[in-house]
Amino acid sequence: MINDKKILFSGMQATGNLTLGNYLGALKNWVNLSDEYECFYSVVDMHSITVRQDPATLRKRARALLTLYIAAGLDPKKNCIYYQSHVSGHAELSWILNCFTYMGELNRMTQFKDKSAKHADNINAGLFTYPVLMAADILLYQADVVPVGIDQMQHLELTRDIAIRFNNLYGDVFTVPEAYIGKVGAKIMSLQEPGKKMSKSDENPNGSIYLMDDPDTIIRKCKRAVTDSEACVAYRDEQPGVKNLIDIYSACTGKTPAEVECEFEGKGYGDFKMAVGEAVVSILKPLQDRVKELEADKAYIDSIIKENADKANYYATKTLRKVQRKVGFPDRIR
Ligand code: TYM
Repeated sequence: MINDKKILFSGMQATGNLTLGNYLGALKNWVNLSDEYECFYSVVDMHSITVRQDPATLRKRARALLTLYIAAGLDPKKNCIYYQSHVSGHAELSWILNCFTYMGELNRMTQFKDKSAKHADNINAGLFTYPVLMAADILLYQADVVPVGIDQMQHLELTRDIAIRFNNLYGDVFTVPEAYIGKVGAKIMSLQEPGKKMSKSDENPNGSIYLMDDPDTIIRKCKRAVTDSEACVAYRDEQPGVKNLIDIYSACTGKTPAEVECEFEGKGYGDFKMAVGEAVVSILKPLQDRVKELEADKAYIDSIIKENADKANYYATKTLRKVQRKVGFPDRIR
């Protein structure tokens, strides 16, 4: 608890162009939860280097992501918005937790399997221990709740297992976190291959709507989205392309899938896809405008980066010192 509130932690990688999936599956929920919890939202730049990055591009994207958090409606005076690499406790706790995580557990992680297949020339140790750094992120702030999309559930389960294992050995050191999965939008699929999640690393740009796509591009991508020949707007697994578009429309408008089915009863896919495109534009356009405004205010963003890194460091150090003591590291002499 901080200020009588439960604690929330989440993060996003500044790798590639963020997609509508990142927004609907994560960021949008963060904004809804931000009053109820004491929140830490990190730009997880240390995770990003598990895949080769161009340094200048990474720096630029990390700043753009931090700005996006604020543009999406997270008040940086109330929510701690910071770069993971500005808080050395993440790396320090990650090392300790590495010693409490089994190779077999990490071998089972599907994201590791996917990423090592994709980057066969660079299967580095960081890619393998990536979930341990993620556990350190969460446990460092004693988070009660972690809002994520479904694809991160396996990592969250591992985080819980590590926390429980550590607590069994040393007493109640860590809060065991719960995942928070939104009711709609927790798994947005590719517009071109609805069996695959919408992803920033997809090679086909028509499969993803990027948060910075202009309105014409968004409408065009929605119009081209893969559906089927049933010509009926129904929410069912047999129509994965249509189901995904209903999910997107629901998440953007707040309507339930059943309400969406009613709205488009007797109408064709053309009308439906156009409405989906417009609903996405109505959500993303204000976000894009706000990003541009904020980007122009360099001093403001800099001040947020400094203040919030100090705040994050304060809470991170509290947990880290406790953990260091538990495992037997010598006390610091002041
Ligand atoms: P990342 O950067 O891949 O994604 C950020 C968030 O977006 C969600 N997401 C989706 N949700 C719905 N549909 C999709 N198609 C979709 N694609 C992505 C993800 O589930 C995630 O919530 N390892 C994490 C970052 C991380 C983290 C953490 C998250 C590092 N430390 C601690 C939570 C807590 C990742 O790579 O997310």
